[in-house]
Amino acid sequence: MAYSSYFWEDLEMGKIILTGDRPTGRLHVGHYAGSLKRRVELQNSGQFEKIFIMIADAQALTDNADNPEKVRQNVIEVALDYLACGLDPAKSTLFIQSQIAELCELSFYYMNLVTVSRLQRNPTVKTEIQMRNFETSIPVGFFTYPISQAADITAFKATTVPVGEDQLPMIEQTKEIVHKFNSVYAPVLVEPEVLLPDNSACKRLPGIDGKAKMSKSLGNCIYLADSADEVRTKIMSMYTDPLHLQVSDPGHIEGNTVFTYLDAFSKPEHFERYLPEYANLDELKAHYTRGGLGDVKVKKFLNNVMQEELEPIRNRRAEYEKDIPEIYNILKKGSEEARAVAAQTLSEVKSAMKINYFEDAELIKAQSEKYEK
Ligand code: TRP
Repeated sequence: MAYSSYFWEDLEMGKIILTGDRPTGRLHVGHYAGSLKRRVELQNSGQFEKIFIMIADAQALTDNADNPEKVRQNVIEVALDYLACGLDPAKSTLFIQSQIAELCELSFYYMNLVTVSRLQRNPTVKTEIQMRNFETSIPVGFFTYPISQAADITAFKATTVPVGEDQLPMIEQTKEIVHKFNSVYAPVLVEPEVLLPDNSACKRLPGIDGKAKMSKSLGNCIYLADSADEVRTKIMSMYTDPLHLQVSDPGHIEGNTVFTYLDAFSKPEHFERYLPEYANLDELKAHYTRGGLGDVKVKKFLNNVMQEELEPIRNRRAEYEKDIPEIYNILKKGSEEARAVAAQTLSEVKSAMKINYFEDAELIKAQSEKYEK
């Protein structure tokens, strides 16, 4: 008794992270700035009792049903990118969504707590339906993926979900499911809170062409696995200010991709090292705005900044690439660990929903008494 109350107190205090990515391609610097970098900091902060990082292959299949090979190939790419960024399997549980059957069971029960019109109003689902030309025929699995995402989060009793801004509607929907479940059945589920990047440039890093978002299909990404040369070529071709034709012309910072990246990645010590004639980014921006500062100079500086950030990641990735079976091993062990946690939650969910027939001695006794003459 004393032990168990100590145990519950401990759990109540402990903060738990769950987050993840769809394995539809290698991860890029947008993922890094928007989420990965923060995850590694959180992992190393020691403030979290458990950290679950999920490769969301089942969710990736909701809009790639006809392309399972793509999803399969990218599971290992995402795992390598995770490890390269510094996620450490000794501190974080890395696992594959589809291997946790309990998530499907949870989703199935949560479906009773969500209306079709609520899903239709989910802004992320709305945009994605347009992006994928699903308007006329939406796969049911895709339409309901916010519910499955609620299962991902609640299965681990996550208190904290570090994600990019585009995921806010998913967390909102999860909170609603938690409220509904806890009030209809029993207070089993934990309401998560979202953790957004604190630097606003990191929230939505544009592609190198200045388009709103980095995306594989637009070919505008800088990947974490890109070589130093590839990164440099991409930075030198970045979209800047189309009105800044001559070095002497006044330039615009707003919507200028190079400056958005500097907002996201540059630190004062970078100026000391690579551009000592400016004390900080504000001075550089002021000069650009005034006129007299060329794009090439700013791009070269950005290249130095990015190379410094990406080089350790690239080197760590190369190390991990040498032992691919070990990566699968890490994911297998992580999936087993994650499954045990999800199974515990599912069992609590089933008792709350009164579908735990065989574990409920009281029920069997009451039913027997009913029929005793
Ligand atoms: N929807 C997320 C993405 O597109 C991936 C994801 C699935 C996720 N389940 C999650 C993120 C749970 C956070 C929590 O990248």
